Amino acid sequence: MLIRLAQLLHSRRDLFERFGEGLVEFGIRGLGLAAQRVAGAFARGPRGVSDVVGGYPHFGSLAVKGLEALDTADFARKIRAAFSPCCLGTWPTPLESHPVLAARTGVPELWIKREDRSSALYGGNKVRGLEFLFRDVGPGDVVVTIGGWGSTHCLATARHARALGAQAVLAQFPQGHSDSEARTSRASGSVARRTFAASSWTGFPLEWLQAWSLAGRLGRRVYIPGGGARPVAVLGHLLATLELAQQLSAPPDAIVTALGSGGTAAGILLGCSLLGWPTRVFGVRVASRLVANRWKVESLARRALRLMISRNVPLLHAPTSPPLSVVAGSFNE
Ligand SMILES: Cc1ncc(COP(=O)(O)O)c(C=O)c1O
Repeated sequence: MLIRLAQLLHSRRDLFERFGEGLVEFGIRGLGLAAQRVAGAFARGPRGVSDVVGGYPHFGSLAVKGLEALDTADFARKIRAAFSPCCLGTWPTPLESHPVLAARTGVPELWIKREDRSSALYGGNKVRGLEFLFRDVGPGDVVVTIGGWGSTHCLATARHARALGAQAVLAQFPQGHSDSEARTSRASGSVARRTFAASSWTGFPLEWLQAWSLAGRLGRRVYIPGGGARPVAVLGHLLATLELAQQLSAPPDAIVTALGSGGTAAGILLGCSLLGWPTRVFGVRVASRLVANRWKVESLARRALRLMISRNVPLLHAPTSPPLSVVAGSFNE
């Protein structure tokens, strides 16, 4: 695998394309601006971006912060018990160390968390949120959601809705054409009941209304916002961070994730907060500032926390405020 990685890097092929369509997460263990360098490198890449995890060598181990008392597996069980998500994925996703990539990016350690392996049906980061968003979805339901042309969120929603016996109706806005957009559009078109794809932004409201109205005629309508960015879905991504706590021996320096609708970054931020990690979370923007911004991520994280408190989920300790950086990504405005 490492030799393969080295070859990919040497031949300047796109690593993320080669890992497939799902989310690939990266981890680093290092100091200073290393995480920022890695985030910057990914920001120049295409949309199949990445999560970067690093370590605080000076912490030594979780025990130094008294975190040995935290039972993260039990905490995850309590979150699941309080919200009864459905089961779409296979957890935990593997965490892989990649020394070659670490050396290439100038950091001592780097991991890839294989979120792309979250489901054989269709993996990637969206599966975590959908488990919570689909907790009441079943046969006879019609899920309506929106996304850009070739949206992987739309494809994940349609495939997993069908696995639960529900149908999906999609409304899509223009987002530029590419081979991967065409592949994803074909795939979601073959599984959704109907896709209303607008050819211009001005035409989008009408397509959206048509999707909404068709869904109402077909069955019980369940609306999932673009990217699945709801506070309850953030809890799925919080569980990813709790998995990391079980897979790593020390809090990371940084976690870098793509930042689209914000749920993924919000869950990671909330996870770091509840674990008491001083980890810096980097969101590499892959969507417009209007939807992908610090305010949105922090607001989603806060609302998810309130939701947990309202369901009496006992917290590990008082939440902290880990730093969040939003890095310009591949999205052209
Ligand atoms: C591979 C990948 N990971 C993560 C994200 C971010 O997801 P979110 O919409 O939760 O911000 C995206 C969004 O486009 C993505 O394509």
